[in-house]
Amino acid sequence: MRTKIAIIGAGPAGLMLAHLLQREGIDAVILESRDRDYIEGRVRAGVLEQTTVNLLERLGLGGRMGREGLIHTGTKLAIDGEIFRIDIQELTGGSTVMVYGQQEVMRDLFDDAAERGIKIIFNAAEVRPREVAGSRPYVTWRENGTERRLDCDFIAGCDGFHGVSRGCIPKTVLKTFERVYPFGWLGILADVPPANHELIYANHERGFALASMRSATRSRYYIQCAVDENLADWPDERFWDEVARRLGPETAAHVVRGPSFEKSIAPLRSSVTEPMRHGKLFLAGDAAHIVPPTGAKGLNLAVADVIFLAEALTDFYQSGSASGIDHYSARALARVWKAERFSWWFTSITHRFPEMDGFARKMQVAELNYMRGSRAAQTMLAENYVGLPLQ
Ligand code: FAD
Ligand code: DHB
Repeated sequence: MRTKIAIIGAGPAGLMLAHLLQREGIDAVILESRDRDYIEGRVRAGVLEQTTVNLLERLGLGGRMGREGLIHTGTKLAIDGEIFRIDIQELTGGSTVMVYGQQEVMRDLFDDAAERGIKIIFNAAEVRPREVAGSRPYVTWRENGTERRLDCDFIAGCDGFHGVSRGCIPKTVLKTFERVYPFGWLGILADVPPANHELIYANHERGFALASMRSATRSRYYIQCAVDENLADWPDERFWDEVARRLGPETAAHVVRGPSFEKSIAPLRSSVTEPMRHGKLFLAGDAAHIVPPTGAKGLNLAVADVIFLAEALTDFYQSGSASGIDHYSARALARVWKAERFSWWFTSITHRFPEMDGFARKMQVAELNYMRGSRAAQTMLAENYVGLPLQ
């Protein structure tokens, strides 16, 4: 088999890249180790930046999102139960965010990929990028026990944090910058109406809490927990009691309790690997970087990477210029680092850290109170939240 771009991974990065390339008439094949049901079943991100929304609309993929997604013009912060609002739309000159789950985005991307004949090989085992530093790269995998091979011009490693692509860059070249946080997020989904029509990011003495949603009838709540927390120790009632306490009485009065149908713990990590290109291999999305979820940047960063990568590849095939390809890593990383900063900062002012003393907690409270009264500080949050420009 031969194609121009071999894409490893059919998550948001890989699938979105395939759509972008398909629109430009550039041949691509996706190799994915799982099946569609598994990918669509993974409960992950919930908030789309304006940039991501614009891209989905531009690709003609915004139909269901437009009908079922919730446009949010503001977001809320709480300090020990006291809430204030940040008017994102007003502060950014009209941008908003969209509450539309990653599962829904994936469903729309897969449905449209099937109609457009985008080639995806599911259940590909032992996928290996080969000869990435040479002039004839290829990818091998096993399908029903048989070894297969895909020759290509370039390989896009969109295989997430635990994928194989990043490991193909020699250790002498690859640099990793990392921070692992001493806590995780315990999240639940329940078919109950949200406590508030907007998201509430809460800093509480007992730890962070987030009131989010998927629709007017489906709520998503998170609480900060220990990394080694045992899910069995968190029956629904205990979760509801704790989230209500951290959100504070004003919000708790509106928390509608109900049985959770999903409950999981996600660890928090900041990580960036540089460069995002080595020879014929490009990394995009979680394969190259991870952010803590505070601020909902993970999925959106993956989308921005593949916008840059698709532009570079299109330029290469249409004009023969390699300049876009050569600048991909630096261009993507410049934006990645800003999103890393935002996610790290938002995490640092909202979570309880084990080593925190009275002074550190006072600093968090002072920073949040400063935000409450400062248009400049609120603008910083708002412009990051809707997504920084794609420069
Ligand atoms: P992924 O979504 O990880 O996709 C990679 C794909 O590659 C997968 O389909 C995988 O099966 C496939 N793959 C992996 N290895 C191989 C291989 N060797 N061969 C072939 N295929 C392979 N972000 C937010 O903004 N908000 C959130 O609330 C949030 N919650 C999250 C919770 C969890 C548990 C996790 C793991 C992530 C969460 N994220 C969240 C982050 C967000 O979901 C990711 O940033 C986003 O999915 C990145 O997309 P991606 O395509 O780069 O990687
Ligand atoms: C959600 C997740 C986030 O990380 C965030 O900042 C906002 C919302 C969510 O899953 O709904």
